[in-house]
Amino acid sequence: MHINDKTKSEEEKSGHGRYDSMTYNRCGKSGVLLPAISLGLWHNFGSVDNIDNARDILKCAFDLGIVHFDLANNYGPPYGSAEKNFGKIFKKDFKSLRDELFIASKAGYDMWPGPYGNYGSRKYLTASIDQSLKRMKLDYVDIFYHHRPDPNTALEETMVALSDIVRKGKALYVGISNYQPKETTEAASILQELKVPFILHQARYSMFDRWVENELLDTLHKNGVGCIAFSPLAQGMLTDKYLNGIPDDSRAAKNFTYLDKQQVSINLEKIQKLATIANQRDQKLSQMAIAWLLKRSEVTSVLIGASSPKQLKENVASLNNLDFSKDELTLIRKILEN
Ligand SMILES: NC(=O)c1ccc[n+]([C@@H]2O[C@H](COP(=O)([O-])OP(=O)(O)OC[C@H]3O[C@@H](n4cnc5c(N)ncnc54)[C@H](OP(=O)(O)O)[C@@H]3O)[C@@H](O)[C@H]2O)c1
Repeated sequence: MHINDKTKSEEEKSGHGRYDSMTYNRCGKSGVLLPAISLGLWHNFGSVDNIDNARDILKCAFDLGIVHFDLANNYGPPYGSAEKNFGKIFKKDFKSLRDELFIASKAGYDMWPGPYGNYGSRKYLTASIDQSLKRMKLDYVDIFYHHRPDPNTALEETMVALSDIVRKGKALYVGISNYQPKETTEAASILQELKVPFILHQARYSMFDRWVENELLDTLHKNGVGCIAFSPLAQGMLTDKYLNGIPDDSRAAKNFTYLDKQQVSINLEKIQKLATIANQRDQKLSQMAIAWLLKRSEVTSVLIGASSPKQLKENVASLNNLDFSKDELTLIRKILEN
């Protein structure tokens, strides 16, 4: 990287080495590069959480070269509080680094009461981006997503609303999330007509949830759109965390999360078998689960969550071994299909 500032030390110029250790992938056919691993703020950043820990996680992520942070209007709990906490941390630690960051927000799920705080109307999206920018203390987000399809609003209304958000300078790029292949093709065609840079689809994708492989990844490839895979560790199940029971401080043990103890016990046998293969590869299960997703060229970035800097460091080390032998892939497939 070339920085024309002779007053800075070599270390400062090079970004403390953070850009050397991370891999950056091109996002579809766009000009944007995203880190192979991005950080999501769905959990661990709300006002119920410890903000010092949240700050440590964000700083650690940035130092590892994770320059993409993913938020949404309703992350918390309570809704809005992850964006608020991010705003506080941003002001303290990241304000001068704004141009080195790629920040996302979304609207589409339940956010505020009444008919205008949910789904995909122009009314909802237009108000929501303004609220998000205020909470995060930002002038613009790098990407703004429609968070889920709305069966009762014309797709054109939602896409024009996204386009106008870009025209007003409140977002640079747009994305969609949780859209099926057919809806994705329709959205891509409207956005192309509007000349809006549609660069990312955010989809749940992990060893335990492979729905995107049926058609969506092909659709994205055809449209020059990248895929960012969310919940790549199946919310923590694809780590060593649950191998010996359910720790008290884990997501599965907590109330108000989308992972329960029953899901863990249903999957435990598979988790144990996968952990054995990871071990033979000299990797943690989390590292193998991330590497397994990154072998698909359509996957621009793997969007992880983390409740500590230690988890982040462990997960980023997955980049040290992204190769799989044919035998390993066959063994993994058999375990997943059983
Ligand atoms: N677009 C959408 O509809 C949508 C939906 C969901 C998520 N997302 C995005 O995707 C992001 C990631 O989702 P996710 O949090 O479900 O992802 P995930 O990476 O599958 O799960 C993250 C959780 O796994 C555990 N974990 C991570 N690394 C670990 C390690 N090395 N060892 C042990 N445990 C580890 C931690 O849980 P513990 O608390 O148990 O430690 C952590 O919070 C979200 O923050 C959000 O930005 C988007």
